[in-house]
Amino acid sequence: MRILVTGKNGQLGRFIQKTVNTDTKIDNNQSTNDFIFVGKEELDLSSESSISHYFNNNKFDIIINCAAFTQVDRAEQEAELANQINHLAVKQLASIASNHQSWLIHISTDYVFDGESNKPYLETDTPNPINVYGKAKLAGEKALQTVMPMNALVIRASWLYSEYGNNFVSTMLRLGRERDELSVVNDQMGSPTYAADLADAILEIIRHKKFRDLAQTTQIYNYSNEGEISWHEFAKEIFKIEKIECEVNPVTSQQYPTPAKRPRNTLMNKDKIVEVFNIKISNWKSSLNTCMVILKQQQ
Ligand SMILES: NC(=O)c1ccc[n+]([C@@H]2O[C@H](COP(=O)([O-])OP(=O)(O)OC[C@H]3O[C@@H](n4cnc5c(N)ncnc54)[C@H](OP(=O)(O)O)[C@@H]3O)[C@@H](O)[C@H]2O)c1
Repeated sequence: MRILVTGKNGQLGRFIQKTVNTDTKIDNNQSTNDFIFVGKEELDLSSESSISHYFNNNKFDIIINCAAFTQVDRAEQEAELANQINHLAVKQLASIASNHQSWLIHISTDYVFDGESNKPYLETDTPNPINVYGKAKLAGEKALQTVMPMNALVIRASWLYSEYGNNFVSTMLRLGRERDELSVVNDQMGSPTYAADLADAILEIIRHKKFRDLAQTTQIYNYSNEGEISWHEFAKEIFKIEKIECEVNPVTSQQYPTPAKRPRNTLMNKDKIVEVFNIKISNWKSSLNTCMVILKQQQ
């Protein structure tokens, strides 16, 4: 099996690399040499010709697309680039995967929803993105499903964080150490996703005995950690674990305007991925603790 992972320098891409390099279960079944990790330098998703050129010379059994334009606020100003990377490149990848008879695992987002539901979103609920990033990601999902009705999986994640790169946890740790008090929104609800857990879930899926049968019809799956919180509660827990004395004041989204609108409630129901692929999902607090322990070791 030759498995391509895009976005090798991103949060999720880095965790897939880390897991592949340390996971004995993978060593037993799939040699680590089967995984090829690429970044923008090798495969630039903003360029149609770069994508064509790369795949003219390379063929894979599975493509795991972790690369994306992920700056939600910047996407409002750079809609064309966000659309190229999160939509058109996904369409092109799907077309190549289909021609090469490869499987495609693509990562999407809870931001395809408008957040107005009062119950956890099911994969079948109608998306209605309210910002440029969410619109481009949804267009990518739809293009993929049209071009590749077979042999693809879309995994929607929410609030991704890790000990790598810029994310909510790293931002809170920095600000919490600099300031005595902070304002964080308490009217946007969801569930965080620790990138290490999502990486494990993806690797579990591809080494599942029935992966080929179960993934035959292209499907969407929700994934995040368990639990429902606001960003305000998330920040408070980060400071509690790190014993940072910084007051976290709850504010509304109206009091904290951002260039891109954020959905109010994007909690997702994860029953499908649990039932189909037997994925075990940790609670957000225990995963956050794991991340914080590793962060401490890195300091
Ligand atoms: N972050 C979140 O809160 C969140 C929430 C829900 C879903 N997701 C989805 O989860 C997936 C993984 O997210 P993440 O947090 O791991 O993202 P990330 O850390 O921002 O990493 C994204 C990667 O994509 C790469 N990339 C950007 N433009 C590219 C281009 N033109 N060509 C090739 N690669 C390019 C980046 O490369 P450089 O490092 O070189 O820029 C980066 O390594 C994405 O599909 C994202 O939409 C993320």
